[in-house]
Amino acid sequence: MSELAQVNGSQAGGAVITGAAGGIGQALAHALVHEGHPALLVGRDESRLQALQTSLRAAHPGCFVAYVVADLNEQSGRDAVAQAVGADKRWSMLVNNAGTSEFHSFETQTAQRIEHIIQTNLVSPMLLVQQVLPALLGRADAQIINIGSVFGDIGYPGFSTYCASKFGLRGFTQALRRELSDTPLRVRWFAPRATQTSLNTAAVVNMNNALKTKADTPEHVADLFIEFLHSDRNEMVIGWPEKLFVFINRIRSAITDGAIGGQLAVIRKYMPR
Ligand SMILES: NC(=O)c1ccc[n+]([C@@H]2O[C@H](COP(=O)([O-])OP(=O)(O)OC[C@H]3O[C@@H](n4cnc5c(N)ncnc54)[C@H](OP(=O)(O)O)[C@@H]3O)[C@@H](O)[C@H]2O)c1
Repeated sequence: MSELAQVNGSQAGGAVITGAAGGIGQALAHALVHEGHPALLVGRDESRLQALQTSLRAAHPGCFVAYVVADLNEQSGRDAVAQAVGADKRWSMLVNNAGTSEFHSFETQTAQRIEHIIQTNLVSPMLLVQQVLPALLGRADAQIINIGSVFGDIGYPGFSTYCASKFGLRGFTQALRRELSDTPLRVRWFAPRATQTSLNTAAVVNMNNALKTKADTPEHVADLFIEFLHSDRNEMVIGWPEKLFVFINRIRSAITDGAIGGQLAVIRKYMPR
């Protein structure tokens, strides 16, 4: 089911935000609407999308906010989003934010969880991008922004499958950007570090506290997203020392092996098995 009613026009490109009702998604939606972007909220839970739409309209009177209820792991869900994007030229930005995670020993992680994480974080965004490409290629200032993670660069114990999905998404982002570099469509990578959302279980939060790993608020992530949006950069990784480790890991991964090796005993203490 979808609700596509115009409240007001806007000059800024319309943003399609997947996983909009999640922690980072809600903050992104508020920040983008605040900047004057119409927003198309995508998620599986209609009541949460409706609540977000109501709060956006209350906070930003006159804004244009619509939603599409869609499970992006289903063809019918991706079809619903592609249909909405194709039908209305205002949508020129796709923010692939929907995602899932599991902190778990890889040895005992179930095949079902492995497939679900790879499907949600990698296969479904790729298939959605493929479906909306024809529409976006015909629109001015169009862009796709894939929400990655610092774990799309840094392989981290307890997150083997999640890291594989985000490394894959980063590779897809980079390759597609280069494949489309002779078109106006931009394909970009925005990578948060740990963020205070329900994606992270108590085990993750406890481990992060024990390791003194900083976790950003979703609102801070959204502020940096807007900064990124206005920049000409194709990639942004959030936070120190994460940014530094991403850089070092790209040029000399053995150094990061050593640093993370020093954390392994603590990580194992918290890692579900
Ligand atoms: N939190 C962190 O520490 C962190 C760090 C780096 C990167 N990220 C990335 O940031 C993005 C947002 O994460 P978050 O922390 O905001 O997590 P979150 O609060 O759990 O939100 C994730 C959202 O993804 C949606 N989603 C999951 N599977 C879906 C599917 N099959 N179809 C449609 N929607 C689906 C969920 O929608 P429903 O509302 O329908 O459940 C949910 O709203 C993810 O890509 C994540 O990997 C998060």
